[in-house]
Amino acid sequence: MAKEKFIINGLGGEKTLKGEVSVRGSKNAVLPVMASVFLFKDTLTIKNAPLIEDVARMSELLEDMGVSVGKKGERVLEFSSKKASDPELDSVISKRLRASVILTGPVLARFGKVSFPHPGGCVIGARPIDLFLEGFKKMGANVSEREGKYVVTATGGKLVGAEIFFKVQSVTATETFIMAGVLAKGKTVLKNVAIEPEVTGLADYLVSCGAKIKGIGTSTMEITGGGLLSAKKPYTTIPDRLEAGCFLILGALAAKDLLIKNCDPSHLEIVIELLRSSGVEIETGKNFIKVKGDGPSEGFKAVSIKTHEYPGFPTDIQAPMTVFLTQVGGESLVFETIFEGRLNFTQDLVKMGANITMFDPHRVMIKGPTPLKGKELEGPDIRAGLAFVIAGIIAKGESVINNVYYIDRGYEKIEERLQAIGVDIRRVPVEEIVVAPGAAPETA
Ligand code: EPU
Repeated sequence: MAKEKFIINGLGGEKTLKGEVSVRGSKNAVLPVMASVFLFKDTLTIKNAPLIEDVARMSELLEDMGVSVGKKGERVLEFSSKKASDPELDSVISKRLRASVILTGPVLARFGKVSFPHPGGCVIGARPIDLFLEGFKKMGANVSEREGKYVVTATGGKLVGAEIFFKVQSVTATETFIMAGVLAKGKTVLKNVAIEPEVTGLADYLVSCGAKIKGIGTSTMEITGGGLLSAKKPYTTIPDRLEAGCFLILGALAAKDLLIKNCDPSHLEIVIELLRSSGVEIETGKNFIKVKGDGPSEGFKAVSIKTHEYPGFPTDIQAPMTVFLTQVGGESLVFETIFEGRLNFTQDLVKMGANITMFDPHRVMIKGPTPLKGKELEGPDIRAGLAFVIAGIIAKGESVINNVYYIDRGYEKIEERLQAIGVDIRRVPVEEIVVAPGAAPETA
């Protein structure tokens, strides 16, 4: 793996970015749809797939299990599970991709068995999998641990429908059990489900291919199991709301006129609402968002945020929003309710000149505005990595962002799209390194 870094020459508070930026397909939407290949008897075609590292890792994992993976166009991928028979998730790849856990449901439902490693710890928090293991047991499976892997076996070779109440709303657990329910015997009722657009998008697509799912977009879903589905039409990946949100925040901070294209503003209502109440002028259309003007003469106002399941404020946009709040007048509170490690990056913002007090791992207070100075930073995860890029763009002087691989996991060639709107950013190789098996960091 080539180690690379970004070098950014900051704007030092000037608002000179302008033009158009296009949003790619959503990472967290495409990964579960890729996992759904095990529910299909024929070829699954995915359009608008983002060209990111996580999609490459998921493709490798699927290929390792016998799925054929093909490329039909620049962002068009094809998958077929016709020849797949291996219900074992490769440990090395799975540990690098937290989303690999989504495969457990469809693989177990298809083959009556799945084995997988614990996805491991992660810089953003503990990431437990208890909801998965408890849910599989409710569907009649036996869970054991062997040689560092979970081995889950459906009694009689087939999962049976069950009623599962999730004690916390979980995106990937909801997706996993929707897919498990599609091939299970009888009815599966899921309560307290996540309703993120990535979840409802997966369910809608499966319904369009013959799955029987009721209650999509509500807190209770009912899935009636049946046979393998037929991929009658291609799946088109929904726009990445998290990427669009980052561009919107960058526009508010550093542009007088920025058009964010190919996005769905209806997935970002809370972010738009809060930025507007801070004083950002935003225009929205069906598939675009425009950031306009200099902002109020007295500067942007403080707003407080609390991360929450959809349609609340996304934890994945908390880091760039925190960067925004360093530039507004007054005191803003950030309450990160989903992951306990997701405010640690604020220590680096302090080194750049931000005035941030951490009360506990879930809460910080930001006093602004404070100008930021360029620094050398190490992105701890995908989302904080891009927040550092935004901080580097608005700071005075040069910033170096290490660990670009994290950013590449979730954002397709981000520097090219940033350069096109006027950002002075370069990707620079550091050195060639060899990654030992299992040593690569885990992702979302
Ligand atoms: N949780 C449990 N037990 C479980 C599973 C989750 O207690 O078995 C808890 C988590 O610890 C957390 C809460 O449930 O406190 C919600 O986490 P969730 O399970 O929804 O997270 P996830 O499904 O693992 C997805 C995204 C994340 C995103 C979160 C929250 C994918 C592939 N990942 O993760 O995306 O932050 O939902 O919206 O969809 C990212 O893209 O950078 C990223 C981390």
